[in-house]
Amino acid sequence: MKKIFAGLMCTFFTLHATLAYGSDQDKLTKEARTVMKGVGKQLKTTLVSAMKKGGPVNALGVCNTKAGPITMRNARETGWDIGRTSLKLRNPSNGADAWELAVLKDFEAKKAAGANPKKLEYSAIIEKDGKKIFRYMKAIPTAAPCLHCHGKQIQAPVKEKIAAHYPSDKAIGFKRGDIRGAFSVSKELK
Ligand code: HEC
Repeated sequence: MKKIFAGLMCTFFTLHATLAYGSDQDKLTKEARTVMKGVGKQLKTTLVSAMKKGGPVNALGVCNTKAGPITMRNARETGWDIGRTSLKLRNPSNGADAWELAVLKDFEAKKAAGANPKKLEYSAIIEKDGKKIFRYMKAIPTAAPCLHCHGKQIQAPVKEKIAAHYPSDKAIGFKRGDIRGAFSVSKELK
């Protein structure tokens, strides 16, 4: 009888711990989505206005100089680490770590199995160097305007400018609906 009771208590505590963990994770996931949407919107607005002003050649210069500072400013204001990454990088400093790489590959596998890339997201609480970190990623699908700079047929002046800024560029050859990369945001839990 004692044994059964201990077993039941054990189950109860495990279940309880899982539930508490689960609701924390839900809350953090919601916060992460808000942070990510904020950055995404600013990047998009900046890109669209630069394209309107001077087409993809001008916008390329704007992406090159503004994407980093926009992301950094948001990180400072929200307290979250924010980044974008991809399996095919343009800027090598956006490189994925092991966890991000696994999630990016998982997104590709899910898309291949028929999932909608707009809906692919993943969150987890991980331990790193004795710290507990909440991490969230969301896939970024390729839309029509992205093809000017990430597609299969890129205009010569755009191509030249990409080569000048990003000599090791791999972020071309995408088509609409492909996963271009992902947002990745994280926060240490204290
Ligand atoms: C005007 C050219 C241009 C257009 C249009 C464009 N990008 Fe980019 N993209 C760039 C440049 C330049 C970078 C590198 C920015 C940097 O240095 O951080 C980049 C980087 C990225 C990255 C970060 C990962 C990496 O490879 O370094 C993602 C993700 C991305 N673009 C997605 C998109 C999506 C999605 C669209 C369409 C909504 C888009 N881009 C449209 C020029 C463009």
